[in-house]
Amino acid sequence: MRHHFLLLGACGWVLLVLIFVSRFFSFRTFDDYAERTGQSWTIAGSKMKAGPVTVPEKPAVRPSHQPSADPRETDWELVSDRRNERLSAACRNASLGGLTHVSITKFVLDRIFVCDKHKLLFCQTPKVGNTQWKKVFIVLNGGFSTVEEIPESLVHDHEKNGLPRLSSFTPQEITLRLNTYFKFFIVRDPFERLISAFKDKFGKNPRFEPWYKHDIAPVIIRKYRKSHRDSDSAASGLHFEDFVRYLGDAEGRRHLDQKFGESIIHWVTYAELCAPCEIRYNVVGHHETLEQDARHILRAAGIEGLVSYPAIPPGITRYNRSKVEHYFSGISKRDVRRLYARYQGDFHMFGYSSPDFLLQ
Ligand SMILES: *[C@@H]1O[C@H](CO)[C@@H](O)[C@H](O)[C@H]1NC(C)=O
Ligand SMILES: *[C@@H]1O[C@H](CO)[C@@H](O)[C@H](O)[C@H]1NC(C)=O
Repeated sequence: MRHHFLLLGACGWVLLVLIFVSRFFSFRTFDDYAERTGQSWTIAGSKMKAGPVTVPEKPAVRPSHQPSADPRETDWELVSDRRNERLSAACRNASLGGLTHVSITKFVLDRIFVCDKHKLLFCQTPKVGNTQWKKVFIVLNGGFSTVEEIPESLVHDHEKNGLPRLSSFTPQEITLRLNTYFKFFIVRDPFERLISAFKDKFGKNPRFEPWYKHDIAPVIIRKYRKSHRDSDSAASGLHFEDFVRYLGDAEGRRHLDQKFGESIIHWVTYAELCAPCEIRYNVVGHHETLEQDARHILRAAGIEGLVSYPAIPPGITRYNRSKVEHYFSGISKRDVRRLYARYQGDFHMFGYSSPDFLLQ
């Protein structure tokens, strides 16, 4: 008798698992960019010919206080769709495989913040205004009514800010959220991002984070500085050239990165941070167009009426080519090439043109 019940129970479990798995797979197919590509392009094509179009009102989706569709918003949806198509093409590109595909490890799950109330996931990528997105999430969670009220100290205090990371959930809860929530993150030009990380962590370091200068810099200098003359000693701090040589050394830096812990989030690739080929993000915004992207994300996530993204000071998100040229001016072409080889997955996935001007 007991055997029968056990058997029945086991069958039930197998059935449940099968149902779950089949749902998961059909969802993936439906969500596949490859399938959507054809459709979006036809729609995009006809919209482009017709000029700016007004989208029919869909009161169920759009909050009523947004009475008319702004044509710019529609255009931005197309921009965002095209970026997603490019991303999925890069993910399928076998010659980039090692640079675009990563497994969804705890390191990745640690990067992703969760807002259960509005079913949102946001992958943290430093130096693109992610502090502001954390504030947006804090407001959405009900802690404060506007982003301006949130004390700066609270935002980065992960004990108190009430923003759970995806890694704090069970595997089933994680899968559910990854499959059903609205997901996004922000990127910027990969080389400009590295310059920004270098300046912020090894230059002035406005936050008090002495370990970059005291623990990390000397290790990189010891291994990667070309000449160790006295006048050129470690006391002068990390040079951008040392940093570039370290970053471009895919093999050699692996064991260093293990020692550096969480700090590496400031310079490992976007692929390693957010696994964009494994996790189907709804929107990957660009820092260079943050104003449009932030608006688009709030709208697409259905939270535009609840919170606004903080004002962006004019000019700060603009790509500055002369800054990139300035930082790379003393760097050998060989080192630039090696650096590009390491980061080209990010360039391809997010549509940034390769920095040929540094190699001429
Ligand atoms: C795949 O990536 C390589 C760079 O490694 C690039 O040269 C090539 O054009 C890409 N192929 C496609 C189809 O995008
Ligand atoms: C670009 O960077 C250069 C060099 O760092 C700087 O002098 C210049 O003011 C920057 N331009 C803009 C528009 O921010």
